[in-house]
Parts: sequence; structure tokens; C-alpha cells
Amino acid sequence: MLEYERVWGHLIMCDFKESVRAAQVICLMTLFVTIGAIGQTAPGEQPNLQGRVTQEQIVNHELSLWGIRLAGLRVFTTPFNKIDGYGDGPMDFNDTVSPGGRPTLQGNGTLLRVNGLDGQTCLECHSLISAATVPPRLGIGGVGGSVTNAMIMPTAIDPADLEDLDMNAGFNGRFANPPFVFGSGGVELLGLEMTEDLQQLRAEALAHPGMVIPLTTHTVDFGTIVADANGDIDLSGVAGVDSDLVVKPFGRKGEFATVRDFDTEAMQFHFGMQPSEVVGTGNDADADGVVDEIRPGDLSALHTFEVTLERPEDEKAIAGGASGLQRFNQIGCAFCHVPVIQTRGQTLPLRFPSDPIDHTTGIYLTVDLTQPPVSFPSNGTGGISVSLFADLKRHDMGPDLSENFAQVDTRRNREFTTARLWGVADTAPYLHDGRATTLTEAILLHGGEALPARNAFAALSDQNRAKVIAFLRSLRTPTEPAKDLLN
Ligand code: HEC
Ligand code: HEC
Repeated sequence: MLEYERVWGHLIMCDFKESVRAAQVICLMTLFVTIGAIGQTAPGEQPNLQGRVTQEQIVNHELSLWGIRLAGLRVFTTPFNKIDGYGDGPMDFNDTVSPGGRPTLQGNGTLLRVNGLDGQTCLECHSLISAATVPPRLGIGGVGGSVTNAMIMPTAIDPADLEDLDMNAGFNGRFANPPFVFGSGGVELLGLEMTEDLQQLRAEALAHPGMVIPLTTHTVDFGTIVADANGDIDLSGVAGVDSDLVVKPFGRKGEFATVRDFDTEAMQFHFGMQPSEVVGTGNDADADGVVDEIRPGDLSALHTFEVTLERPEDEKAIAGGASGLQRFNQIGCAFCHVPVIQTRGQTLPLRFPSDPIDHTTGIYLTVDLTQPPVSFPSNGTGGISVSLFADLKRHDMGPDLSENFAQVDTRRNREFTTARLWGVADTAPYLHDGRATTLTEAILLHGGEALPARNAFAALSDQNRAKVIAFLRSLRTPTEPAKDLLN
């Protein structure tokens, strides 16, 4: 498993003696077989996921965009049950690599929370439209409160702090708070265009050995590369993007180029719902008695639904020229939180199978991002304006925000993709693990590359700090996401 390439993990956290362990395995297998069998012999019960569409229907234009989005809404909001294929089958101690077979809490067969099998539906964790109102406004595609944080791939947990009594309950996995999915179509298109440019610059470097090529695209600076005469590229000057020069906006660590890539992992990690495009058609890889749990059409519909979800509409806040925005720019916040980035195009190609570098193959649908319900503004030069307040780049945020994920190095633990601040008024709690309950806390916790801007903020007069906060409070989430599908 390569660093962040897969969030899926297969961990056996028990450490009992061999003989005891063998007995436990048999016991667990019996339990899982019993639980698994419920799926097939449950008269009167049905899979919860209904109204599915096939990839063929989408490719052959048999469905309207609205119809595909509606099917995607169902995938996003259906609580999967065991007849749908929810969960993993028996653990296979001889094969801890293939998907399937995670332990569950007290052997309940359904949930672990630590390392997934942690929910039944996407909506469970993406349901807060605004945390700024009382009571909070609920809806589809929003952020999650702290209780919905995902706990990713730990091997050691010390909840009682027995190890060294330092008030630090040890946890060597990742702890992540759910962001919203709004406006993801514009973000995905921007990422694809940046990747195209970086690949082009890579080709230029190869064509001009010895020449230092700046990796600048869409106003964002990803460092430099230089090739030698043998066609080897020196990547030591690259900043904030993986060495494949593929921009990956999704996931707080910047691991996924498209929403679909993210979803493919999310289905397996959270629910043990296995996409046939990952495990093979007709293959019951998790041995839970269900095959083809998630089919290409389901993921295509889900992807279409997500990238057409309404976006935060921040143009007015920006055009208003609030003095808070001027301060925000002056003190260096906009260095990473770039207010607006322009794209070249207006249509997002949805692809399956997809190539991370060649974006012209496998296109089954194109989505015009200027059309409702996303309605990104045209920028007059053939593209759209994406007012995301971010740069789709990873930054070192210093030791205080560092994760202590056991599977990666210190540098990687300190890096996060710039949080997109559109809609930030409504999305508390803040930062990757939701540790900040106010905007001010979130800003003051910045370190590393963001330390100068953080210090400049701290040095502002009370009045000017309040102006920056007031500006951030004007950045709002969409009020009624997916409204046209719900009525
Ligand atoms: C248990 C809670 C939970 C469930 C269930 C869940 N998510 Fe998430 N989601 C998260 C967390 C936490 C993150 C951030 C993960 C990270 O950054 O590594 C996230 C991130 C995302 C992102 C990336 C957003 C971005 O801008 O980076 C997308 C897209 C997403 N989820 C879609 C889904 C879909 C689709 C489902 C259902 C298949 C789903 N999620 C189920 C918690 C959840
Ligand atoms: C060097 C790049 C950089 C600079 C400069 C920077 N930030 Fe950030 N900001 C980030 C990153 C990366 C995160 C995500 C950190 C995390 O998830 O733990 C973030 C997160 C935030 C958040 C929390 C958003 C959320 O949804 O959780 C706020 C608010 C914020 N920044 C405001 C500011 C303000 C105001 C300034 C200027 C004083 C600023 N930032 C300067 C990179 C930067």
C-alpha cells in the first residue's frame, strides 16, 4: 500500500496467543457466516438501494441529466443494508490484503468506527448545511459534526492515556472531519485543467534538458522541475503536488483527482460496499454473499449528482469589496486561499474508465457547469470563475496541526490541502479534524508555511480582526441543495 494512495486498510488489532487466536477466528467466522447468511435468507426483506441506473443507460443517452442525478441522490442517501452488500464477510487471516474481512466492535458484525464500517449512508456524515444557525440546518451534501469524524487506519489507540499520562489519548491513525460536497464540479474541472498544464510543462522540461521549468498553472505555483539529457526529471523543486504532477483536490491530504475516485474508496471504507469495477464483476471479494454491490452505473450516477450539487455563491461577498477581504489579502491569507480562479472550459468530462493524465478518453457524460443547479458564472473567456478561496495545493502547516499517522513521514503528516473557504461561515467545526470551534481558533492554529499570515492576523487591531472574521462570515453554503430533486 502506497502512502495515501488508498485509505482502505486491513488491520488486525488483537495480539492474542496463537491457540487462543485460532479459537477466536473460528468463533468469529461462525458469527460472520451467521450474519452474512441473513442477507440471502430473509423472506420479506429487500435491498434498500432501489431505482438504480446502468452504465449502458447513461452511455446510450437513455436518461436525462435530471434522471441520472436522481439516481445519484438515491445512492448518496440510501442506508445500505446487508442485502445490498453492506459490511465485510468473514475475516481471512491468510489474506489481509484483498478487500473484506475487517473486525467489528464487540463482534457486532456491523460497525467498528475505527477504520471504517462506520456508517450506513453517505448522508449520515454529509448532512449539515449550516452549523451557524440554531438549530443547525440539515440537508444533503453538507459537512459533518465531530461525531462523524472518520478514524482512518490506526493500529494503536490509548483512549485512557495510560501510556504516559500526558493528556494525549494516543491514536496513530488519521482523524478527519467531513467537508461538504457543494461546488465540487468546478473544483474537479479546475484540478483537471491544472493537471493538463503540469503534464504539458513536464513534456517541455523533457524537450529542453537542463532548463528549469516553473510549474505555474492557473496562477498557482507548484515549484520547478528540470530534466537531464537521459530523460530523468529532477522533482526536488516540486511543491504541494505529488510527483506524478496530477493535482488531487479531494480529501484533506490531496489524494484524489476526481470525486468518483474518492467515492470508490468511500464505499469500501465506510460501508464495505464493493464496487464491481474494483473487485471484478460477479466476484464476492468480501465473501458476504453479495456480488456487484456497487456497479459502474451507481458510481456514475453518484458522481454526476455530486458534481452538479449547488455551489456556495460568494461572488457578492467578493464584489462587495468588504474591507475584511482587503485585510485578508494584505496579511497573506490569499497566498493560499486564492479568492477566485478562472478555468479555461465550462464543461466537466465524467469518465469511466478514467485515465489520470489523458482526460479525453472514457467520457460518458459532459456536464455544463454554467447550467443550473450549479450555475458557475461564465468568465467571458470561455471558462468559469470558481470562487473557492484555495489553490488546490498542499502546504506544511507546522508541528501543532501535524497528524501522527504511523504509515507516513513527518513531512506528510504536517501537510494539508488548503481548505476551501467558500461557505466557511456555515461549516464549523474547522480544520482537518474539527478541533477549532471558531474561525479565530482555526486561524490562530495555522503554523508552518502559514505562520507569517497567522502572525499578521494576530497583530491586527481588534477592529481589523473583526473585519476579517465578518468577511469570512459572509461566505455561505447553498441554502437548499438538491432542491429540484427533492420536490
Ligand atoms: C463516517 C463518516 C463518512 C461517511 C459515511 C462518508 N463520508 Fe465522505 N468524508 C468523510 C470525511 C471524514 C472526509 C474527509 C476525508 C479526508 O479528508 O481524508 C470525507 C470526504 C468526502 C469527500 C471529499 C470532499 C473534499 O472536498 O475533499 C467526498 C466527495 C465525500 N466524502 C463523499 C462521500 C460519499 C459519496 C459517501 C458515501 C459513499 C461518503 N462520503 C460517506 C466522512 C464520511
Ligand atoms: C500557507 C498556506 C495558508 C495560508 C497563508 C493561510 N491558510 Fe488558512 N488554511 C490552510 C490550510 C492548509 C488549511 C487546512 C488546515 C487543516 O485542515 O488542518 C487552512 C484552513 C483554514 C481555515 C479553516 C477552514 C475549514 O474549513 O476548516 C480558515 C478559517 C482559514 N484557513 C483562514 C485563514 C486566514 C484568515 C488566513 C490568513 C490569516 C489563512 N487561513 C492563511 C492554508 C493556509
